[in-house]
Amino acid sequence: MASGLVEGKIALVTGAGSGIGEASACLFAVEGAAVAVADLDEAGAERVAAQIRDGGGRATAYGVDVTDDAAVSAMIDAIVAEYGRLDMAHNNAGISGTPKGFADLTLDDWHQMIEINLTSVFVCMQQELRVMAEQKSGAIVNTSSGAGVVAAPGMPHYTAAKHGILGLTKCGAQEYARRGIRVNAILPGSTRTPMIENFMAGNPEVEQMITRSVGRGELGVPDEIAEAAVWLCSDRASFVNGDSMLVDGATICR
Ligand SMILES: NC(=O)c1ccc[n+]([C@@H]2O[C@H](COP(=O)([O-])OP(=O)(O)OC[C@H]3O[C@@H](n4cnc5c(N)ncnc54)[C@H](O)[C@@H]3O)[C@@H](O)[C@H]2O)c1
Repeated sequence: MASGLVEGKIALVTGAGSGIGEASACLFAVEGAAVAVADLDEAGAERVAAQIRDGGGRATAYGVDVTDDAAVSAMIDAIVAEYGRLDMAHNNAGISGTPKGFADLTLDDWHQMIEINLTSVFVCMQQELRVMAEQKSGAIVNTSSGAGVVAAPGMPHYTAAKHGILGLTKCGAQEYARRGIRVNAILPGSTRTPMIENFMAGNPEVEQMITRSVGRGELGVPDEIAEAAVWLCSDRASFVNGDSMLVDGATICR
């Protein structure tokens, strides 16, 4: 039930054309924010932005590659030009990559994963912090993963990138805390999105294995992850800074 949690604020969500990012963009809008819906998949971003506008919200789609420094900088400038400020950002775009152990992983696999899942978060944070520091306010949430705190079996590149996001989150929080900015991370457990559907690829054994690995015995749904992201960006989480929140139905329980 909507309660105006982020009423009148401006939010950016990356990877918002699908899955967790789509749910997050829609929830930011339902809770009263205008939303910049960013994705490499421009058609996906357009679809989600149109859905928000059809529901009476404010949204603009941006087709952007979040690894592209100049493109991200131009997008942030365009958001500020259109909406006047940037209050909240959910840096969420990412890929799962192909599971490969140390013996099989190529340097190209490694570089691609680090570029898309880690460098992109640095690039986005740098541009968002530029605007938020000037405003002396802002909140950022980065999507890490359970693989940000424990090993994802057979995925050293994904595990390293998601651990790295927690490092960026902590450094951002500490560097900007006295300038009115908060930076936190969410760590989703296995969540039913196109990413995980592709990963399971209609293979019932893999699906069963992943489902069993979730503490509650059932995958998460994107809306459950979005709830945490939007709350962390809201003023209700004003003393939560530099944290990483597991949203995984009692899977890791660190
Ligand atoms: N689904 C899960 O079980 C799960 C679990 C833990 C963490 N995560 C993380 O959640 C995030 C979202 O995943 P999802 O499951 O919703 O996946 P998804 O594939 O449904 O959505 C990811 C979106 O990111 C976009 N994207 C990819 N590369 C991009 C780039 N370079 N620039 C801009 N956009 C780009 C894709 O186009 C896609 O729309 C990812 O960071 C993922 O690692 C997912």
